Amino acid sequence: MPCQELQHAEAIRRSVYALDKNLPLDQEKITEMISHTVLHAPSVFNCQSTRVVVLFGEEHEKLWELAKEALTSIVACDQFGQKRQEVNKFKEAAATVLFFEDLSAVRNLQTNFPAYADLFPTWSAQTNAMVQYAVWVKLASAGAGANLQHYNPIIDEHVAAEWSIPDSWKLYAQMVFGGIAEPAGDKKLDSLDHRFKVFGSNKVSETV
Ligand SMILES: Cc1cc2nc3c(=O)[nH]c(=O)nc-3n(C[C@H](O)[C@H](O)[C@H](O)COP(=O)(O)O)c2cc1C
Repeated sequence: MPCQELQHAEAIRRSVYALDKNLPLDQEKITEMISHTVLHAPSVFNCQSTRVVVLFGEEHEKLWELAKEALTSIVACDQFGQKRQEVNKFKEAAATVLFFEDLSAVRNLQTNFPAYADLFPTWSAQTNAMVQYAVWVKLASAGAGANLQHYNPIIDEHVAAEWSIPDSWKLYAQMVFGGIAEPAGDKKLDSLDHRFKVFGSNKVSETV
């Protein structure tokens, strides 16, 4: 993909909450796109610790039903209505990607490289985030909308039981995606002045 196309995809990637079941690509193509990211994404010490499960259709709806049930045990009654509405909105989308880290891969690294043992959990989370971001940008470039959710840990046990998830997989995030029923709202972009610096370039002013 030429750089300009990649930059365009980065810019159109947004948190889209009004999603429907009309995906711009067929499920097979989307599955291939996501698995390609899992295969090629970078990972700490090349440990390839990220695990991904894609739920389409009824399986996706089942996830958000499970989330609703899990919420009843932790959300105060007065807030439950709002949360339930939020979850019902996710159900209207076409699919969800579940992102896990395989903690056995992280433990192996800690054993083999004890000097970095404390750092591996953070690096593992960063590894996972790279896959999440690449999938999000790719879905956007294909014309699909997505949003990122964190119903873990309250759904972890339900997810593990329903989809036979190995004990060593820790759930990190859920990406809901589908057709774009309504685009994301405007987003104010903070100035780069205090967010980005360049030194030593013979082409770019240091103040940018
Ligand atoms: C680490 C991380 C965690 C996030 N968690 C959530 C979340 O739990 N629920 C949600 O609706 N959005 C979540 N988001 C999305 C952000 O709220 C969103 O990216 C941000 O407001 C900017 O909007 P944009 O995605 O449209 O650019 C998360 C984003 C990141 C990077």
